[in-house]
Amino acid sequence: MTRKIVCVVGTRPEAIKMAPVIRAIQEAPDMECVVLATAQHRQMLDQVLQVFGITPDIDLDIMHPNQTLTGLTGRLLLRLEDALGGLKADALLVQGDTTSVLASALAAFYMDIPVGHIEAGLRTGNIRNPFPEEMNRVVTSQLTRWHFAPTEFAADKLRAENYAEDSIIVTGNTVIDALHHVSAQQPELGIDLPADRRLLLATLHRRENFGEPLRRIIDGLEQVLERHPDTQLLLPVHHNPNVRQVIQDRFGTRDRVTLCDPLEYTAFVAAMNRATLILSDSGGVQEEAPALGKPVLVLRETTERPEAVDAGATRLVGTRTEQIVAAADELLTDADAYAAMARIGSPYGDGKAAGRIVERLRRDLA
Ligand code: UD1
Ligand code: UDP
Repeated sequence: MTRKIVCVVGTRPEAIKMAPVIRAIQEAPDMECVVLATAQHRQMLDQVLQVFGITPDIDLDIMHPNQTLTGLTGRLLLRLEDALGGLKADALLVQGDTTSVLASALAAFYMDIPVGHIEAGLRTGNIRNPFPEEMNRVVTSQLTRWHFAPTEFAADKLRAENYAEDSIIVTGNTVIDALHHVSAQQPELGIDLPADRRLLLATLHRRENFGEPLRRIIDGLEQVLERHPDTQLLLPVHHNPNVRQVIQDRFGTRDRVTLCDPLEYTAFVAAMNRATLILSDSGGVQEEAPALGKPVLVLRETTERPEAVDAGATRLVGTRTEQIVAAADELLTDADAYAAMARIGSPYGDGKAAGRIVERLRRDLA
């Protein structure tokens, strides 16, 4: 019997990490894949879907400019009930920790559709940081039948919260599957950068960094540029208006800074490959960059991805200007310290996570 699996994608990172699973389900002869785009992100979601050749079967087109968490959640729940009603889905898969994830898992729970949570078990232990993602993860776990944990570390977090052993499946992170897929296409950056300068690549978007922390981070980037005249900063600017305006005001006309719109995933992978050092508050970048041998300074006070920090491939530097500058100074001047970080690799998987997820669904839905 063919099993119908709904795959939800809302934002850029969800689409990147869900794409390998969608592909694997589409290739399975005993499964039907329904791609449901909430379109919590519009342009940034479409960019990713295009790169992976995915056309949503259902598109809720939910995004509003500068949307609030409550407004977004409310609209999602109502639209999801309509979209899922009558589908007769056998399972619904969500990925990560966004508002689309929480709302979809809750709607599925209300409609008695079993939920599979991809990238389950990530925790900082601080319900307000990252905000609101930590709460989204904790609540989504409660609504989940299959916890697809990327690492044993994440699985242990779920065990510590007393989830049944049989419901926890360690798969690796699907982001490594996606990265392998794109890397095989020999991605190109498509932006002219001075060949003789070392590239600093930065991304910024976290809600808990809005305001003062974001200003301190930008001060840090500015000082790193001043202290290292052979560097160029490439900063693809997230569409969130709270980030965009601040970055444009500070870096819009600055020498040795290249601002651009969010890059297509292929181009961003090329940018990571070209970079000497990556400075980011992104979740996904903490997983991808180590796989490409690139040190990352994590511009956050806490991370739910301590595996790479513990292994020595990323460094949690926080949002204080001096700490950011000190860590960048070390890596840009000390070749041994740099090489020690670059050679660690990624603890987040072998690129075969999607297959493991589909295999487990097949077993349980037979
Ligand atoms: C969201 C997720 C965050 C995730 C991030 C990935 C929540 C609460 N936050 O944060 O967990 O790490 O996505 O990037 O789920 N916008 C556009 N076009 C786009 C995307 C965003 O214009 O393609 C603008 C809109 O004005 C939108 C705003 O950005 O209202 C914020 O988008 P939203 O998804 O609510 O929050 P993010 O900060 O992007
Ligand atoms: N990314 C991209 N283009 C960019 C910046 C990032 O494709 O200009 C990719 C990046 O490789 C990673 C994902 O987007 O896979 C991370 O998304 P984001 O930082 O928005 O969200 P988070 O991972 O923090 O939830």
